[in-house]
Amino acid sequence: MSVITSIEDLRVLARKRVPRMFYDYVDSGSWTESTYRANESDFQKIKLRQRVAVNMEGRTTATTMVGQQVAMPVAIAPVGLTGMQHADGEIHAARAAAKFGIPFTLSTMSICSIEDIAQHTRAPFWFQLYMMRDRDSMARMIGRARDANCNALMLTLDLQIVGQRHKDLKNGLTAPPRLTLPNILNLMTRPRWCLGMARTRRHTFRNLVGHVPGVTDMRSLSCWSNEQFDPRLSWADIEWVKRQWGGKLILKGIMVAEDARLAAEAGADAIVVSNHGGRQLDGAPSSLAALPPIVDAVGSKTEVWVDGGIRSGQDVLKARALGARGTLIGRAMAYGLGAMGEAGVTKALQIIHKELDVTMAFCGHTDIRNVDRGILWPGSYPLA
Ligand code: GLV
Repeated sequence: MSVITSIEDLRVLARKRVPRMFYDYVDSGSWTESTYRANESDFQKIKLRQRVAVNMEGRTTATTMVGQQVAMPVAIAPVGLTGMQHADGEIHAARAAAKFGIPFTLSTMSICSIEDIAQHTRAPFWFQLYMMRDRDSMARMIGRARDANCNALMLTLDLQIVGQRHKDLKNGLTAPPRLTLPNILNLMTRPRWCLGMARTRRHTFRNLVGHVPGVTDMRSLSCWSNEQFDPRLSWADIEWVKRQWGGKLILKGIMVAEDARLAAEAGADAIVVSNHGGRQLDGAPSSLAALPPIVDAVGSKTEVWVDGGIRSGQDVLKARALGARGTLIGRAMAYGLGAMGEAGVTKALQIIHKELDVTMAFCGHTDIRNVDRGILWPGSYPLA
């Protein structure tokens, strides 16, 4: 690969370097993948208004997310199996985020554990949690996040049951991969990845194995979530989590205004408008299309963020213009990591930052905090 200039370049490189089942896990949505595709393509429908002869000097993309300083309104989304994109992947991504000055969120379904991240990074990070049936395990997990100095908890609300992703079933996704003939043949074409994995002990879901009773081998994410996640999740449970945690709480997976109001009433410090990257309810609109009515409903009561489909700084700017105070990036990070480890995540962040900064200038602004719907071309929004 010659010079890397876009997230797409990182995706292409990651596809070459990451074993197929783990690349596919990231680059897929549920069922027809229509929501997955809409997340990206809807950003393209929003057009920008260029302004000229406006002083562009002294620009800043710095702002805050749940009161924390961020170099740009972007945090790393929780992504399951990040440590299968690259050996020790979560540690590398957390380090890149900390150096860049944005938050890193560790997924419950991570390969490196909460303790691994705390040991190998200095900056506080965020922890993402699913509501599980066993409250003792929940309380222990929340306690571990507190002991590790996590400074926000992100509760995901839209994955109590798993949307079917054809590729994961066909590939027989497990961590570590089973040594079947097709897997061995595929791994032989990924020597760099295999070498990295040979040098680490972190090969399975270390957040869970040995921490949740009865879980000694849980290679398969879908089997485990089917057994452990609580399908009875209610707003009373969410209040229980809030009390247990006692710190900043982010609720992720909200797509409609009535749920956003309930989340604000439950005391969320931020909500993430999200369809889980198109991986859960296929047939839902893009998260960008869902954003404006939610901002109108609760934007004055809580911070509204968005994720899904963000592959450039222009996308971040458009989300911000439509009222999102912050954004999360999952795949853009995973592609960078799969392509080049920590350096690849740093590259992804640099690419997004540069695009954000320059596009903001073209639109006549020097401070991200002043960007509003005025930069959008009338008629190109709201999205249908
Ligand atoms: C888990 O969050 C997944 O989308 O696979």
